[in-house]
Amino acid sequence: MEKNKINFNNASLKISAGFLHQIPNDKPHIVFSGRSNVGKSSLINKLLNRNKLARTSSSPGKTITINFYDIDGKFYFVDLPGYGYAKRSDSERKKWSELVEGYFKNKTDNLTVIQLIDLKVGATKDDVMMLEYMSNVGIKYAIAATKADKVNKTTKEKNFKTLRGNNAVDKDSEIIVFSALTGEGVKELRNLVISIL
Ligand code: GTP
Ligand code: MG
Repeated sequence: MEKNKINFNNASLKISAGFLHQIPNDKPHIVFSGRSNVGKSSLINKLLNRNKLARTSSSPGKTITINFYDIDGKFYFVDLPGYGYAKRSDSERKKWSELVEGYFKNKTDNLTVIQLIDLKVGATKDDVMMLEYMSNVGIKYAIAATKADKVNKTTKEKNFKTLRGNNAVDKDSEIIVFSALTGEGVKELRNLVISIL
């Protein structure tokens, strides 16, 4: 892979996969995981300089599909359906588990997760479960601490330290403070993606 030559503006939706057999496997996957409403779609749009390529939802947790965006023909950004959405029905929860767990079971190579955690809210119970799951099955991940614009500098530093010190967070995992509103962390995240590939 020729580094530093990724055109993040050259992105398109490859497929909205509702079933495991639809998942493309011809390029590396950079997977964005996190609870509903944490800012996954907004972060993807920001990294790609797009307003609404990835859908930002007003009704969180609505669609249970895994969305694959082809980035410059070189890899996929993967927008996972969010977890922890209280109003989801049992059958929707079942669909989420089957799809997401099935996905991670089938695919372990050429896959890196960027786990989103709301910097203001901190790691929720579900976030901790996700982090522990990834550690247990050996999935590499970095963390994007989202919505950084919502906290002041003092809280930002305090919450960052709390997250860094969380036992569930792998000590080797990078944590990038991010805001889709201000663009904080965009450069760092793009560089992280480049370094992964
Ligand atoms: P689901 O697809 O439902 O799982 O949600 P998501 O994780 O994709 O979140 P989404 O990007 O749709 O954002 C959820 C809400 O948070 C929207 O109202 C966004 O405008 C808002 N939001 C996302 N990122 C930021 C941010 O960096 N700062 C602020 N202030 N709001 C944000
Ligand atoms: Mg979304």
